[in-house]
Amino acid sequence: MKQKIETLLQEIEMSIIESPEQAEQYRLKYLSKKGELNNLFADFKNIDSSEKKEIGVLINNLKERAQHKFNEAQLLQSNTTYTQAQNDLTKPGFPFSIGTLHPLTITRQSILAIFERIGFTVAEGPEIEDDWHNFSALNFPEDHPARDMQDTFFIDKDFALRTHTSSVQVRLMENQKPPFRSLMPGRVYRNEAISARAHCFFHQIEGLYIDKNVSFADMKQTLLYFAQEMFGAKTKIRLRPSYFPFTEPSAEMDVSCFICNSKGCTVCKHSGWVEIMGCGMVDPAVLINCGIDHEKYSGFAFGMGIERIAMLKYKVNDLRLFSENDIRFLNQFQSASE
Ligand code: DAH
Repeated sequence: MKQKIETLLQEIEMSIIESPEQAEQYRLKYLSKKGELNNLFADFKNIDSSEKKEIGVLINNLKERAQHKFNEAQLLQSNTTYTQAQNDLTKPGFPFSIGTLHPLTITRQSILAIFERIGFTVAEGPEIEDDWHNFSALNFPEDHPARDMQDTFFIDKDFALRTHTSSVQVRLMENQKPPFRSLMPGRVYRNEAISARAHCFFHQIEGLYIDKNVSFADMKQTLLYFAQEMFGAKTKIRLRPSYFPFTEPSAEMDVSCFICNSKGCTVCKHSGWVEIMGCGMVDPAVLINCGIDHEKYSGFAFGMGIERIAMLKYKVNDLRLFSENDIRFLNQFQSASE
């Protein structure tokens, strides 16, 4: 009996299972009901009980080995089928989509990059603001309409969602010492009905430049540089007098229409100019509010809407598209984000 077990073990070790047919032959020969192993178990019943313990262990080992070999061969075969399929070089690739940068991110990054090249750094501030940082320090009179419930989302009587990034100017000036050459990008909120031209939230980039002897001419040259980098070397700018509580004098800046080369189109409403930002010399009252010596320092500030610039640059005619997450819209900015 021992001899038989030994021979079978050798046979099993030597047998080759490389195809499904060979596996089936192996199974029939050793593992099936009428196979060698079952025969052994039948013979086992008849042996002398003094030998049973020793032989029992041997038969069990043999069975385990036989089954293991069979399982291993099957596993190998299923893996081979899998690898063969993987190695089919004619198969089309998996369409992994890597996504795109959001058009507002692309626009924000290019605006920041232009100013960073002339030494501006980026600062950020909270979206929930108190009255002081959003209004009072910026010289908004107590009864200014912008404080009205119509425009501002109040959280309680002391706090609101910031209505502009100008609040970050205040935080910067309060916490650091001049000179400043900073950009403050971020999301702002206004209580407006949502339409193609207005939304209850949008994004701005604020700029602040404070140093000794800063003049209106410095501002004009800085903004001309920006306009030409952003919209093309031939771009002209025009400053129109305006009013903001925190700047004096204040201006709106237009750029020559880069869509029609100022010949007149629907974007510039046939005027040849498109408005892109507000700007002005920081009002001394704001410097005083923020603890900066207004006799020693002066500066300029500007603020623009990122959506507005993106709409002009990419000819987008509906503001809502930026926040709807429609993949058909977003996918169009694939190449711009590379
Ligand atoms: N805060 C203004 C707004 O939300 C934009 C602005 C205008 C910012 C003039 C400025 C500025 O810093 O000087 O409409």
